[in-house]
Amino acid sequence: MFKIRALVTALTLIGSISVATAWETLPTSAPAPADNPTTEEKIELGKMLYHDPRLSSTGTVSCASCHNTMLGGEDNRPNSMGVNGQTGGRSAPTVWNSAFNAVQFWDGRAASLEAQAAGPVTNPIEMGMKSWDEVVARLKSIDGYAKAFELAFGKDSISKDNATKAIAAYERTLITPHSPYDKYVAGDKSALTEQQVRGMNSAQELGCTSCHSGPAFNGPGMFQPFPMHSNPYFAAKYHFKNDKGLAEVTKKAEDEHLWKVPTLRNIALTAPYFHNGSVKTLDEAVLIMGKLQLDKDLTKEQVADIVAFLNSLTGEFPKQKMPVLPATPGTTFN
Ligand code: HEC
Ligand code: HEC
Repeated sequence: MFKIRALVTALTLIGSISVATAWETLPTSAPAPADNPTTEEKIELGKMLYHDPRLSSTGTVSCASCHNTMLGGEDNRPNSMGVNGQTGGRSAPTVWNSAFNAVQFWDGRAASLEAQAAGPVTNPIEMGMKSWDEVVARLKSIDGYAKAFELAFGKDSISKDNATKAIAAYERTLITPHSPYDKYVAGDKSALTEQQVRGMNSAQELGCTSCHSGPAFNGPGMFQPFPMHSNPYFAAKYHFKNDKGLAEVTKKAEDEHLWKVPTLRNIALTAPYFHNGSVKTLDEAVLIMGKLQLDKDLTKEQVADIVAFLNSLTGEFPKQKMPVLPATPGTTFN
């Protein structure tokens, strides 16, 4: 159930447009699509598949290699490393709360978690399997999976469609509610420090929340240009424009440098920052956002306040029971 509790509503003036910012707490469960209702059996299967390196060509890389669910849901690397040590140009976003993204990937090219989960397994620089037929054949050769799929989807149900549905169902459980910010918005005024409250107000007054809005601060459904304003210093240092964002997929000029607004939940845990992972610290990321998105030079104090506020968005991570994967005694895959 998707519950949004808008408890505090404030009015901000950004230029001449007035924008209402609703401070919303993170829902404790995520909505599931009609064709993939969440069940315990799917979650269990999805958790197994998510953590199984045998879904990669070399048997070394699982979803968790790049999206570590014992940490902030990513790998803290500028660029993730897939099979045979290969790296791409983008940084792994967190899977925590990805259930609340309107679209998936930095450029939003996948419409759902189900669609997203099909990608990495056959991506040559991520998990490197030749095809989903090969993945399905491998899963069929591992005895225990037949049973786990049967429990989740019925007899003889090992397929790409069901594997990605199970992974997505598991991902919908990766939610981190009850951060100090959530407690504050729910009425516990002692949950934030004075500095954090100052930062929260600054983020709103400056206009951060015009893009980073909603319970996950990911501006549901919005693509935004980045960088909005040019700055030769940051351009030379971080090369943000080398990657054309949405236009890499659509090949349309009007989509150049359009990006999905990323969540700010647990942002303190997911350095380095931005699509290319080029920025090492949260202070620098905030300074850059001020300059490149709002054309404002933030003071040291403003940056420190906002960073303090962003630290209050670190939520409670549910304790996870790791699955036992079905073994393949006497067999190896490579
Ligand atoms: C080799 C590292 C690597 C592996 C393995 C990997 N991912 Fe990712 N993942 C990434 C990177 C990098 C991106 C961002 C790519 C982009 O935006 O173009 C990403 C994006 C995502 C997103 C989108 C999140 C968002 O905020 O947009 C989700 C969800 C996700 N991966 C889940 C998975 C799942 C599930 C698996 C296993 C089936 C997986 N990943 C395997 C590196 C990896
Ligand atoms: C015009 C829309 C817009 C505004 C205003 C804006 N942002 Fe962003 N923000 C984005 C987009 C889009 C990205 C992703 C950029 C990329 O990496 O390609 C982003 C990225 C970020 C990141 C890095 C996220 C990550 O996972 O690496 C942080 C931190 C951040 N913004 C904080 C802020 C703060 C603080 C403010 C106000 C000072 C702000 N943003 C204002 C759109 C905006």
